[in-house]
Amino acid sequence: MILYNETSRTLTLHTRRTTYQMKADAFNVLLHTYYGPRVGDDDLSCLVQYFDRGFSPNPREAGIDRTYSLDTLPQEYATCGVGDFRSSAAEVEQPDGSLLLDFRYAGHEIRPGKYTLEGLPSFTGGEGWETLSVRLQDPSSGVEAELLYGVCEEHDLITRAAVLANCGQAPVRLRRAMSLCLDLNGNLNRTDLDFITFYGGHVRERNMSRAQVCHGIQSVGSVRGVSSHQYNPFVMLCERSAGEDAGLCYGAALLYSGNFTAQVEHSQFNDTRLLIGIHPHHFCWTLAPGERFTAPEAALICSPDGFAAMTHRFHRAMRASLIQDPCPGTRRPVLINNWEVTEFHFSADQLVEIAREASKLGMELFVMDDGWFGNRNSDYSGLGDWVVNQDKIPGGLEALVPRIQALGMRFGLWVEPEMVSEDSGLYRAHPDWALGAPGRPQTRGRSQLALDFTRQDVRDYVYASLRRVLDSADISYIKWDMNRALTDVWSAALPAERQGEVFHRYVLGVYSFLEQLRRDYPKLFIEGCAGGGGRFDAGMLYYTPQIWASDNTDAIDRLKIQYGTSFCYPISAIGAHVSAVPNGQTHRSTPMETRGVVAMSGTFGYEMDLGECTEEEKKTVRRQIETFKAHYNLIQEGDYYRLTNPFQDKDYTAWEHVSPDQREALVSLVTGSARAAQPFTVLRLKGLDPQRRYRITGTDGLYGSDTLYRGDTLMYAGYPIPLLWGDYQSVQLYLEAVE
Ligand code: GLA
Repeated sequence: MILYNETSRTLTLHTRRTTYQMKADAFNVLLHTYYGPRVGDDDLSCLVQYFDRGFSPNPREAGIDRTYSLDTLPQEYATCGVGDFRSSAAEVEQPDGSLLLDFRYAGHEIRPGKYTLEGLPSFTGGEGWETLSVRLQDPSSGVEAELLYGVCEEHDLITRAAVLANCGQAPVRLRRAMSLCLDLNGNLNRTDLDFITFYGGHVRERNMSRAQVCHGIQSVGSVRGVSSHQYNPFVMLCERSAGEDAGLCYGAALLYSGNFTAQVEHSQFNDTRLLIGIHPHHFCWTLAPGERFTAPEAALICSPDGFAAMTHRFHRAMRASLIQDPCPGTRRPVLINNWEVTEFHFSADQLVEIAREASKLGMELFVMDDGWFGNRNSDYSGLGDWVVNQDKIPGGLEALVPRIQALGMRFGLWVEPEMVSEDSGLYRAHPDWALGAPGRPQTRGRSQLALDFTRQDVRDYVYASLRRVLDSADISYIKWDMNRALTDVWSAALPAERQGEVFHRYVLGVYSFLEQLRRDYPKLFIEGCAGGGGRFDAGMLYYTPQIWASDNTDAIDRLKIQYGTSFCYPISAIGAHVSAVPNGQTHRSTPMETRGVVAMSGTFGYEMDLGECTEEEKKTVRRQIETFKAHYNLIQEGDYYRLTNPFQDKDYTAWEHVSPDQREALVSLVTGSARAAQPFTVLRLKGLDPQRRYRITGTDGLYGSDTLYRGDTLMYAGYPIPLLWGDYQSVQLYLEAVE
C-alpha cells in the first residue's frame, strides 16, 4: 500500500511486515525517513536530526540556519557537489563541465501494477503490486530523475529503479547512475551493523563474508563485464546480533549481469548509506537533449526476523514474478549432460549410449555440451561457427535428435553465443567483430575473444546462425554459456567519447538477444552459465530460469556454494549435478548417496558415465531420481532453511525444505570427514507446525521411526541423527504430517 499524506508530504510504502517512508521537506529535498518493521503512517522525519555540524555546508534556502545540511540528512537519491560529501547516487557532467547536481522533489504518481523497464530485466509484477514514481529536478540544469518503486505487499518486496533524463538544451554526460540509494537512519545510525557479501572465484563461488560496518566505505563489485564469480550483486546489511531466526536484516539484489558496485558507507555521524548500481569504472553515458537513461532494477527486502525469513521472501517473490518458466506448472526434467564424461571428444553413437543408460535410470533430458559445432575439438577453436560438426554428428541434429527422442528423452544443446575463437570461420571473416582497440593486441581468456555484442549487426548474425540450428530439430533446452571476462572493451561502432558506454551496451545487447530468443521460442528452456556461476544474478534469472551454479561438482564444496547461493536465489534456479568420483576439481571421493542428496537441492541432473556405474550405484541413482521426482514441489517450492553454516560447523551440514502448508518437510544432512568418537548429533528442525504430528521416514528406508513426533518436539528438542561412519556420509529424512 502506498500512501501520500498531503500535510506532512510523506510517501509511505507499506508491505505486509515492513514500512518504507520518504518525505519532501520544506526545500523539496527528498528525505529518506524510515525503512524497517511495519509501523503506522506517522511522519517519521522525527528520526531525522538537525544539528549545526562544523564543515557541513548549508544550502542557500536555509538562510542563516546552519543545522540544515545535505551532508547530514538521509536522502532518497543523493546528489553531488552541493553539500553532501558522501558517495552520490548520480553524477552528471554538466555542459559547463561542472559535476554539480541538486535534485529536488517535483511531484509523484501512485498507480496500480508494476512499472516496466525498457530493455532491462525487472520483476513482472502482477496482482497486489503498486508503483510509485517520484519526479526529481535539478533546478539549475535540465537534468531530471524519475525514481521508481514497485511495492509487493505479499512478499515484502520493494523494487527500485531510476531513470535519468536530460531535459536541457545541451548534451550531458552521466558518470554514475545508481539503482538504489538507501540511507539507514534513526534506529540504524549506529555502529553495530554487519555487511554481508558473497565472494569467491571460478569453482568456488558465493562464499559468505560477514564484516562489521566500519567508518569509511566497504564495497564489492565487478569490473569484469559480468556480475562475476568473484562477488555477487546481492548483499545484506544486518544488526550485529541478527542470525537465521532473529534480528533485523536487509537484503538487496541488483537485477544486472555486468559491472556493478555494492557499497556501504558509514559516515562521521554513524549514518549508513547503501548504494547499488552499475560500477562507475569506465562508465560514461552521453545523454543528448531529450534522451533518458535507465538504471537497472534493485530489489530490497527488509526482514525484522532474521535471514531465513528474508530468504523465503526473496525465493517466493522471484519464483512468482521474476523467473519465467516456459512451461509453468510442469516439472523440469532430470537431465544428463555429457561434458564431464566426454569433454570435446565424442561421436553421435557415444552420445546415444550415454542417453540410453540415462533414460533407463529415469532421466528425461539429454544435454549435448560443448564440442558439437565447427572445428571445436578443444577450447582453442570453433566458437562462432554454429554449424554442426558432421564428423562427430553425421546427418546433423536432424539425425541425432530423433535417436535421443526414441529413448523417451528430450534434447538440449550447449551454446556460447557471445564468443569467438580466432581459429574460426567467423573470426577470419570479421576480425573487427571482436571487442578490441585498434593497434593493441587483445587479451585472450580461455583462448577466446568476446564478440562486440553492443552491435546489432553482430548480434543479428549470431542470432541467424543459432536460429538455423534451433530450427533444424526439436530442441527444448539450451545451456547459454559465457566463458571469459571482458577485456579490451572498445567497440568499432562507437566514437571515442562514447567508449564509456560499451560495458553497459554489451549487457543490453545480451539482454535483447535473450529477449528475442524467448519471443521466438517461447517453449525453449534456457539455462544460464558463465564458467559455472560467473553470471549468477537476478538479472539473468529473468531470462534463464536456472543457472549452472558452479563448474565445481564436488558434493562437499557444493555445500558451501549452494549455501551462499541460497540466501537470495531460489532452489529452482540452482543448477546442480551428480558427477563421477574422484571429482575432477578436487580429486575427492564422496559416496553416490551424498552426491545425490546435495545435487537434488537444486535443479537436478547427472554429468557422469553411467555405463561405468556398478549395478549397486545404478540402483542408488534410480532411487535418487524417484526421490527427487516424488518431492519435486517440496524441494522447488518449499521454504528453504539453512540448519547449519558449512563455514562454521565442520561436523555436518544440514538443510531443510518445508512445504508452504507445513505438512511436509525434507531434511538433508551431510557429514564432514570422519572423526573417531563422534559426538551425538541432535538436529533441531525448523519451520514445522508446532501442533502437528509428523511421521518421519528415511528416504532410503534406513532411518525413521513409527513414532509420531510433534512439530514443537522436532523444532525445540530436536531429532537424533544416527551415527554415520566414514567420510562425507548423508541422511535424508522425509516428514509428513499425519493430522
Ligand atoms: C563451461 C561450463 C561447463 C562446460 C564448459 C564447456 O566451463 O561451465 O559446464 O559447459 O564450459 O566448454
